[in-house]
Amino acid sequence: MTAAEIATTHEEIRALAAEREAVILAHNYQVPEVQDVADYVGDSLGLSREAASTDADAIVFCGVHFMAETAAILSPEKTVLIPDPDAGCSLAASITADQLREWKAENPGAVVVSYVNTTAEVKAESDYCCTSGNAKAVIEAIPEGREILFLPDMYLGLWLERVTGRKLRIWLGECHVHAGIRPQDIERWQAEAPDAELLVHPECGCASQCMAFGNGRTHILSTEGMIRFAKESPKNRFLIATETGIIHRLQKEAPEKRFEAVSEKAICRYMKMITLEKLRDSLRDWKHVVTVEPEVAEQARGAIDRMVAIS
Ligand code: 13P
Ligand code: SF4
Repeated sequence: MTAAEIATTHEEIRALAAEREAVILAHNYQVPEVQDVADYVGDSLGLSREAASTDADAIVFCGVHFMAETAAILSPEKTVLIPDPDAGCSLAASITADQLREWKAENPGAVVVSYVNTTAEVKAESDYCCTSGNAKAVIEAIPEGREILFLPDMYLGLWLERVTGRKLRIWLGECHVHAGIRPQDIERWQAEAPDAELLVHPECGCASQCMAFGNGRTHILSTEGMIRFAKESPKNRFLIATETGIIHRLQKEAPEKRFEAVSEKAICRYMKMITLEKLRDSLRDWKHVVTVEPEVAEQARGAIDRMVAIS
């Protein structure tokens, strides 16, 4: 799309959103032109909070399916739309509700903590939900001595073991995008840019190893945590180990600073399925409505509410 086409489509989208009394929420990994037309851009935690508190009649969710589902769980009285219903998540797909039920049966009495990147059915089988922004606080809120099943991201789980000192039973799931950011990528950059701060998402395969650097310039953060850190830091150069869509947001929030992706290949094709045209069509044609079975939603809400109460 040319700059003029983007501007025209933005105008169309804003007019439709006003007419439909809809709020547009976008994740930090969305393409720049979608981020730029959204009412709110953020991480999973911020987007859940926004979905729960908005006064709008409808939410158009520019992100992946589990995020829109979470919004539908938190705001059952609102219409939640996703511009492309096929925008999935390889991590959320790594465990089904049946697999979780089996795992629970093998570990009776254990507390189940599910990362937000899960389906509504998996959340409904969980005691707590968590995001990268509050996972540490959620684990720390569970009494010492209770056995914890953590799912589905093994790297986030390993990192949590290190920062909380707790032993977890961890599901062996991964996000193909973050698992693809290799320790070698990080090491190369550490050598090439000794003046830069390194911001690493805990889903990265190297997150817990990175902590061992102990150099004071490596920080494990959620996507919104990266934005906050970069804005507040007195430093000017940052290496970013997560999906590359966040670079646009970082540059917008801290235009005077320099941001470089540790791996240019870290692109989530699911996040990129949401385009400006699909967003416009979604508002215009009122599609694709995301719904969750009421009983599933009610049980899943319990796990999300317990998370929100902690963080
Ligand atoms: P954040 O909650 O940190 O934005 O992460 C969501 C996600 O899908 C990471 O891949
Ligand atoms: Fe899922 Fe990974 Fe994409 Fe995040 S980056 S939405 S975890 S596939």
